[in-house]
Formats: sequence, structure tokens, C-alpha cells
Amino acid sequence: TSILIICGGSSHERDISISSGHRVGGYLHDAGWNVRYHDMDASLLPYLSDPATRPDLVWPLLHGAKGEDGSIRDLLELERLPYVGSRAKASGTAWNKPIAKNVVRKVGQLHTPVSVTLPEELFRELGVREIMDLLVDTLQLPLFVKPIYGGSAMGCTLVTEADQLAQAMIDCFAYADTALVERAVTGTEVSVSILEFDGKPLVLPPLEIVTPNGTYDYEARCTPGPTDFYVPARLPQETLDAVKEAALQAHRILSLRDISRTDFIVDGQGRPQFLESNVTPGMTDTSLLPKAALATGYDLADLYSRLAESVLR
Ligand code: DAL
Ligand code: MG
Repeated sequence: TSILIICGGSSHERDISISSGHRVGGYLHDAGWNVRYHDMDASLLPYLSDPATRPDLVWPLLHGAKGEDGSIRDLLELERLPYVGSRAKASGTAWNKPIAKNVVRKVGQLHTPVSVTLPEELFRELGVREIMDLLVDTLQLPLFVKPIYGGSAMGCTLVTEADQLAQAMIDCFAYADTALVERAVTGTEVSVSILEFDGKPLVLPPLEIVTPNGTYDYEARCTPGPTDFYVPARLPQETLDAVKEAALQAHRILSLRDISRTDFIVDGQGRPQFLESNVTPGMTDTSLLPKAALATGYDLADLYSRLAESVLR
């Protein structure tokens, strides 16, 4: 059976996408699939529709814009091609962090860190001083400044002093026209990956991330080394269960499908605080989902192959 992996793309996460795509493709090849790769470019559409090249199944492994916002998935739906992962509309919801936070808080009653969204235009209009006072008063330091969408922590800054805020906002606006300014919750950073087989979810054990400087930034994500991981996270059993339950709830409320990874901070009271759900979690050697699966004893070739088969059924 032929499977087409779409990876690369034009987002800031292009390199990670190429690694993710080739890792997954390698495992599927080992499991006996006829694996092909395509970048997300103008020749993709003719490739998908030409009977000579049209695959049986597609696995979009594009991170960031176009890959996770739903746009490429829309195209696959238009082509009536089965694909691994969440539908276009659900991807669009999960992609926008403030919208996803609202949905899981209001519908699922999950905890989420207190935050405000701030469009660049308003930031320019009000000026740095006023914005700083406003944010520090309402949210209190330390704060996380993030672009409302995007991945791999690009454009994210942990702000511990008020005078860092202006630069943090400017860095953030390089990636999105709106900032999500969030109270930084102290606690344990955990990530829960979910795979679905014939509609039945496999919730992997929460993976704990411990970085030397306290932020799981781009550097820490892409380089093996100083970051420590624990599977399962070093938390009491009841907290581990609560985190898994919260991840499953987020997956369902956001109507995600086949595969997702939801990130949380478990706060001082043991409550999972939802940060975001990823519809295309990283699948490189240093990525969290494969780490959690390997640590639990899964064979990745078997796991990915079963996932792809389940989509075809
Ligand atoms: N955005 C990166 C790839 C991740 O969430 O793993
Ligand atoms: Mg992410």
C-alpha cells in the first residue's frame, strides 16, 4: 500500500518537519509500506490528482502554518484522500492557542493559565509603558509571551522583569500579529501523546520535561543533551491519571483525530493547566511522542503502521 508523507513546507518549522517526515517514513518502510515523500509546493496538487502518482493514504507531517492550521488538510479533503490526523476544521481550532484554551476551559472545564491576547496594532497604539503596566497589574510576573499560533516555542519568551516585556512582544510579533500573554505557572511540565486505533485511544504515559533554564525552547527541543525527560512523569499516580484524563478530554473536545499531543503544566496543587494541543506533534528522534512510546515499550514501526492501517479501514 502506498503512503505519501508530506513534509517540509514553508513555515518556521520546515527543518523539523523534514526530520519528522523522514523518521516516520523510515519506520513505515520497515513495516512494509511503499513510502513516498512530497514537499508542500505547487506541484503537490497535480501529484495528488494524477492517477499515476495518487497515493492510497497521506500522512501530513507539516509543522506550523499550512500544516497545522488546517489548510493542507482542506486540500486533502477536497481530493477525497484518506489521511492520518485531525480534520481541517479541528486543526484550525487547535492551532489558535487562545481559541483552544477557551474551548477546553468552557466546554471541558479544564484549567488553563490566566492570559490575555494582545494584537500588535493595540500594542503600537497604547505604547510600551501602558501595556507593561496593564499586563503586570492584571497578570503579575513572571509571564509567558507567545505568538497565538505556531510551534517549537518560536517567538516565546519567559518574562521575569517588566523591562524585558517590550523586547518579548517584538520577538513574538515576528511570528504572529497577536500575542498571547500568559501567567507563567510554576510546576511540572508534562506532555501527553494520544494515538487512536479504530476510534480507540491509546493514551501514552505523561512525559515530564526538565530543562536547565526552565524553558523548553527551540534549542532544547532540537538538541539532545541538557534536557531531562521522565516517562512516566515523577508525579503521584492520581495526578498522572488526572493529566491523562485531561489530555483525552482536550483531544475529544477539540475533535482531534488519530494523533495528538497535549502540553500541560501541573501546578503546585496538582492541577493540570492546559497549554495547547498539537495536531502534528514532532516525530524526530528528540521529539516527545516517540520518546514516550519507546519508553513504554512500543515498537515505533508497528505503532505507526497500525495507526496508518486503522485510518484506511
Ligand atoms: N511543533 C513541534 C514540532 C512540536 O510540537 O513537537
Ligand atoms: Mg506546540
